[in-house]
Amino acid sequence: MYKKFLSLTKSLTVSLEKGLNFLTTQEHNPLYFHGAMPLYCFWFLIFSGIMLWMYYIPTLDRAWSSVNYITSLPVVQQVVNKQGQTIWQTAAISEATGIPYGAVVRGIHRWGAAGMMITTLLHMFRVYFTDRHRSWRWLPWVSGVLLLVILLFTGITGYLLVWDARAYAMVVSTQAWLRAIPAIGGWMAEFFTGGDIRDYTLTRFLFFHVGGASFLFWLIWMHFIRLHEPVVTPSRATNFLTFGFILVAAGAIPAINVTEELIKQYPTLAAQKDFIASDAPAQIGMIVQNMRYDAWYMFPYYLIERLGPVLAWIILGGSTILLFVAPFYPKDRRDNIAEVLDAKCTGCTFCSLDCPFEAITMQERAPGSKFKLIAVVQAARCSECGICVGSCPFQAIDLPNTHSKTIEADVLALLKTGA
Ligand code: HEM
Ligand code: SF4
Ligand code: SF4
Repeated sequence: MYKKFLSLTKSLTVSLEKGLNFLTTQEHNPLYFHGAMPLYCFWFLIFSGIMLWMYYIPTLDRAWSSVNYITSLPVVQQVVNKQGQTIWQTAAISEATGIPYGAVVRGIHRWGAAGMMITTLLHMFRVYFTDRHRSWRWLPWVSGVLLLVILLFTGITGYLLVWDARAYAMVVSTQAWLRAIPAIGGWMAEFFTGGDIRDYTLTRFLFFHVGGASFLFWLIWMHFIRLHEPVVTPSRATNFLTFGFILVAAGAIPAINVTEELIKQYPTLAAQKDFIASDAPAQIGMIVQNMRYDAWYMFPYYLIERLGPVLAWIILGGSTILLFVAPFYPKDRRDNIAEVLDAKCTGCTFCSLDCPFEAITMQERAPGSKFKLIAVVQAARCSECGICVGSCPFQAIDLPNTHSKTIEADVLALLKTGA
């Protein structure tokens, strides 16, 4: 039943991708770069993050104003000219009023983060719906789930750095959420802020944020280690499209602290007036009602506030566990793992060098044997691809249930369908 569901989602996804080819051509179909797009957004986050870091001050009384200083100068503003007409003009840029184009850089960071979450989810659903997550692919999947969790953590800690009323409410909710963990919850809640909220709390959040982003790098390496030539660069058109979306979003909904004064100065921001209370500087002990939360990173806070910490744990923890175990069910019949014929293997190492999944190791033979080395297949890593069969000059390795005639017929059938 579940396998039928996966084969249905697979054919639907492939049809959708083929349909999109009519619009985008095969070369520029963004769905073919589902894994490369989150990575592309990540580069934007790294560069814009380093730029923001140069001006960020992690203390209780300066954090909000340092972020505000970075973005206080939108690039254009409304002024009344000599003829009494209201016009838009490029704002004068000076170090005294703000960082030139700081709002754009912060916008790229904010919307790049949203882009990374959206494309990561798209990528996850793509590999799941095309059934490319089970069996020997368990490592990219499991490291992917960890990537998703750390991405969420990094995004949340990023929002804490702004140190506005929303950040304070998130700290209070996170502590309530952590305290709900039996035995170690109290300690974890203390560890999260480092005891009472003080300047070092923000230093700690900055460490969590930068540390989380650095950990993502390592996890991405883990993610790729067992993939054969992963597609890591989107096509040029996909790059422009993704960057275009980030820039347009940054311009249409700028990442700024929305205040009464700003709305007076820039009336077009009035549509965002609901953010004023959430965007005001944090005041310890004061929780603002009707907080405005971001959908991509702050959804856990909707759950914690609406359903309480325990139910939020059940829903979020339960879905994470389900994601972690997804590649292990249903178990595939692994009856075609490469086998080495001991008597024929000369230990030439060709198969081991060619195997894209590092599934063949060369081991010493017993002393006195005719050949020094023998190839050994690690079953858990073998994808049953058959490449080693072609590499072996001595016909010493084979897939027990696929014979060369069957492979030939399969290849011809694929060529006929144009796949
Ligand atoms: C930071 C986020 C992520 C990045 C940058 C990333 C990147 C990539 C890339 C570039 C590939 C190779 C795709 C190809 O060659 O077509 C890949 C494959 C894969 N990813 Fe991710 N990924 C991320 C998150 C995830 C998540 C959240 C999951 C699932 C929970 C996941 C599961 C997989 C799996 C199973 C494959 C192998 C698919 C195959 O062999 O076709 N990834 N990833
Ligand atoms: S079939 Fe051969 S080449 Fe392919 S993964 Fe298995 S051992 Fe490696
Ligand atoms: S290519 Fe063939 S002979 Fe050479 S090590 Fe592999 S199995 Fe042995």
